Amino acid sequence: MRSYSLAAPGKINLHLEILGDRPDGYHELAMILQSIELSDIVTITPLSTEAIRLHCNHNQVPLNKDNLAFKAAELMVAKFPAAFAQWGGVEITIEKNLPVAAGLAGGSSNAAAVIVGLNLLWDLGLTQPQLQELGAGIGSDVPFCISGGTAIATGRGETLDNLVTPPEIYVLLAKYRSLAVSTAWAYQTYRQQFSHTYPPDSQALAARKTKLSETDLLQTIAHQDLDRLGKSLYNDLEKVVLPAHSQVAKLRQTLESFPNSGVMMSGSGPTVFALCSSQQQGEELQRQLKAALPEPDLEIWVTKFNSGGVKVIS
Ligand code: C5P
Repeated sequence: MRSYSLAAPGKINLHLEILGDRPDGYHELAMILQSIELSDIVTITPLSTEAIRLHCNHNQVPLNKDNLAFKAAELMVAKFPAAFAQWGGVEITIEKNLPVAAGLAGGSSNAAAVIVGLNLLWDLGLTQPQLQELGAGIGSDVPFCISGGTAIATGRGETLDNLVTPPEIYVLLAKYRSLAVSTAWAYQTYRQQFSHTYPPDSQALAARKTKLSETDLLQTIAHQDLDRLGKSLYNDLEKVVLPAHSQVAKLRQTLESFPNSGVMMSGSGPTVFALCSSQQQGEELQRQLKAALPEPDLEIWVTKFNSGGVKVIS
């Protein structure tokens, strides 16, 4: 039986709006998600014993049930016991290129790769919607990580409407290596501080849900208007993460002082991104940022919008 190596791309949030509470304890969201080319590599190899083994080259990544990739493998074993019995266990090796606890969906994308990879390894023949339904049981971003590209995400983040990815948009990502933000903390803190702004009833919630489709953002994506896209970036979680982490607020402010098309924090942070019109502009911005904040803890990448999600590379 062969092994599969899959690229597991990260994502940024071009729009993240918290609409209110959900009965399941999560938040009702309206987002626009965008895959980036910066990816982890997830390799799935059959094992002769009935076990799930996980390896990773990054020492902050848990190698147990706290890892979404491990949870994804467990879910597949539970859902397809006959395939597990027939094919045996799996060894999952994650080559981490995406920063951890960064707001870039690295863990969710690793889980997405495991689901896609086991579908192939075990010859299950599941369709993409079926894989996404399984992924939703692991995390809100997993369904998007499977299909990737550019999408409107609503509900918990698992209900997707695909958009056409604007080509040739580059992204600078900047993150302090030692700083991690818990997504659960960010949402809970938002609830504590801003639940008074949530719509009071289902009618008001429905009205807020339609707001995203009326904004400039969808038009700017359709027209591939980078400067307008940059001006329309939005993230409610900045309201809780930036005041709690002045370093991130300063990073954002510094990036804004140099030429680029728009700056925003991604997801629950603490990664901040800037949109650029070329690789050259991204690299120039990287030089300017390094000179302005010459801190060894600050990591910077230049990547690009990606029109897809998890992909088999070998
Ligand atoms: O779905 P996922 O496990 O990735 O979410 C991580 C945490 O983020 C959840 O436990 C929850 O606290 C918060 N969250 C939320 N509403 C969402 C998505 C995530 O409150 N729609």
